[in-house]
Amino acid sequence: MPHSAEALLSNEAAAILDILGLVTSKADVIKLTTDLRKQGFDPGLVAQCITQAKLRYRAVAKFGQQKASKMLFTEDGLEQSTRTEVSNWHAKRFSRANVKSVADLGCGIGGDAMAFAGAGIDVTAIEMDSDAAALAAHNLSSYPNAKVSNSDATEAEITTDAIWLDPARRNLSSKAAGRVMLKPEDFSPNLDFAFELARQRSAGIKLAGSLPHELIPEDCEANWVSHNSELVETVLWFGALGIAGKRSAVIIDQDALEFEGEEIPAPLDAPGQYIYDPISAMVRSHLLGAFAIENGLWGISGSIAYLSGDKKVDSPWLRGFEILEVLPLDSKRIAKRMGELDIGTLEIKKRGVDITPEQLRPKLKLKGKKSATLILTKIADSRKALVCQPIAYKD
Ligand SMILES: C[S@@+](CC[C@H](N)C(=O)[O-])C[C@H]1O[C@@H](n2cnc3c(N)ncnc32)[C@H](O)[C@@H]1O
Repeated sequence: MPHSAEALLSNEAAAILDILGLVTSKADVIKLTTDLRKQGFDPGLVAQCITQAKLRYRAVAKFGQQKASKMLFTEDGLEQSTRTEVSNWHAKRFSRANVKSVADLGCGIGGDAMAFAGAGIDVTAIEMDSDAAALAAHNLSSYPNAKVSNSDATEAEITTDAIWLDPARRNLSSKAAGRVMLKPEDFSPNLDFAFELARQRSAGIKLAGSLPHELIPEDCEANWVSHNSELVETVLWFGALGIAGKRSAVIIDQDALEFEGEEIPAPLDAPGQYIYDPISAMVRSHLLGAFAIENGLWGISGSIAYLSGDKKVDSPWLRGFEILEVLPLDSKRIAKRMGELDIGTLEIKKRGVDITPEQLRPKLKLKGKKSATLILTKIADSRKALVCQPIAYKD
């Protein structure tokens, strides 16, 4: 059988994929395989196409059904690709800066490149991995303004107005990556290479939402981006694409909502009537202090990212709860009180304390009829459990 990407690009694979459509993880793969083999298709190719049809099914969440049903993926390529709403926002930034051509240095299967091309920007997409490059060429085939090169981006001669980089993490499992201090060389292309290039022409660089702030250069704009309540990226903009020194949190919905501010600490005080859980893009942006001040809120303990206040704040940046009671963080006391309050359904949230909801829950022996939220955290230096109800906002 030919090399995997090559095989997927054959007419026979296209015919099998047409028959398969999207395949869910629950599909009867044995039946599908048997039926296709009976029709005379190559067994190895059938297996490969079933895997591909499953990847297409998973890709619907990122690309929508129409696009996902036509695209081709590698497992890693799908995992690493940018979802359409977010890549469209990237492309909009390039269009707004009047960028006419972009080099996508490490395009993967072409998620971002498709959005750039769709926005009418000429795209030179460069990808080192031959399978991903071949599939990117397929995914970009309906855009006459996009071309793909299977080569090393660090050796490319760049002639475009701007560059886009979405570097891959090198040699680190995501678990290890969370523990170790990341260095520029942990990315491919290397971040030092990316930053050097970004100073020569306008550039956007997409990095993990958890990127350590120490790795972010001063002379770029940095945005912490949330989509569907998930922190999806830290994106750095250089040259005409951003404002040097600007820091903001962004929510991508129908449109992009932005909070821009300074990295200043939130004022601290005892909890008011309400406690607020900010979305992770706001927390990771380190702009929570500025946000608190702007909204008349305050922190309740040094470095813990809950805010509090005496007024109901209805904001896409926060989930709010009314504080009903404050208990010491003692499982027996909490269990007793949950019983007295007739709580059976309990959402447990925590920040800044070592106990986990999984450890606490069985000790509470919940069996009441009512529901509540329990927030485990610190007030000043003492560990507390806040019995709360989510704020009901009127539409
Ligand atoms: C995170 S993925 C890009 C995903 C892409 N933005 C999308 O939306 O589909 C990074 C890609 O960069 C490629 N890459 C890493 N170093 C490279 C290099 N020096 N030259 C070309 N490609 C490279 C990797 O093979 C990987 O496919």
